Amino acid sequence: METITLANGLEMPLVGTGTNTYGKEGNQYNGELNEDFSALENAIQAGYRLIDTAISYRNEAGVGKTIADSGIPRDDFFITTKIPADDTYIGTKEAVEQTITNSLENLETDYIDLYLIHHPIEDEAKLKHTWEVLESFVDNGKIKSIGVSNFDIDLLKTVQQFARIQPTVNQIQSNPHTWNNEVIEYMQQHDIVAEAWGPLSRVTDEQIAKLDKIAENYGKNWAQVLLRYQIQRGVVVIPKSHNNERQSSNLELFDFELSDEHVILIESL
Ligand SMILES: NC(=O)c1ccc[n+]([C@@H]2O[C@H](COP(=O)([O-])OP(=O)(O)OC[C@H]3O[C@@H](n4cnc5c(N)ncnc54)[C@H](OP(=O)(O)O)[C@@H]3O)[C@@H](O)[C@H]2O)c1
Repeated sequence: METITLANGLEMPLVGTGTNTYGKEGNQYNGELNEDFSALENAIQAGYRLIDTAISYRNEAGVGKTIADSGIPRDDFFITTKIPADDTYIGTKEAVEQTITNSLENLETDYIDLYLIHHPIEDEAKLKHTWEVLESFVDNGKIKSIGVSNFDIDLLKTVQQFARIQPTVNQIQSNPHTWNNEVIEYMQQHDIVAEAWGPLSRVTDEQIAKLDKIAENYGKNWAQVLLRYQIQRGVVVIPKSHNNERQSSNLELFDFELSDEHVILIESL
């Protein structure tokens, strides 16, 4: 698996798996937890090592158990989780500390590779104390890297101004419906890695037909072309599938390179 180097020197896989519907009834985000993590087991079997979960997915514990039960060394994985921007979790410094401690316990691990603030925290004092606690967990080695999610340029600037440890990643939506190019360009200028959520979402049939046409040139499918486009421009992707074959094919991105002409076509989808 190819990686991208974060500002703190840590290597982050360019492709990971989302988990937001894993362990849930009907593979639905709001479905009841059913402890069926076979989709994650299959993803790990297929070769995924970057695993993206969040407290709001309610499945940290199942994700942690599945990783631990895989028998694969912990160090081979890159585990991401996220703290909700909700007072229960970020209202006070103590709440943030407790939340991170719970994540470590749920994920059955001594350290978390990447801990993100899931959504913008509009109250700057709360944003600042949340960040300071995250920094203290980097100091004590229980978190390797810290970052944010769904932050716009202004909010990134706010964090950059007060941060003692700079954000390494901003996880944002990026797909043909919403590329989010402005924030991605800003991040690339400031050594913050962009990680695309929903990389295969919100693609119209017409766009799929165009991508399929490009894909024919490489013996690939539309999803592989879309994911390749992102990683080729240095954007990490975390596609999620409940289907074994699609999980595997979404990893087969490293044996071809999109031409400039095809990149332009994808940009103009
Ligand atoms: N930070 C945030 O606010 C935020 C928000 C949303 C998501 N996320 C994270 O990002 C991850 C990915 O986003 P997502 O799960 O919403 O969407 P996604 O990865 O874009 O996947 C959307 C759908 O695409 C299908 N799919 C996957 N591979 C395919 C392929 N090769 N061909 C055709 N269809 C394919 C899957 O259905 P099948 O199961 O049928 O294959 C899946 O339901 C999430 O799981 C979560 O970890 C973060």
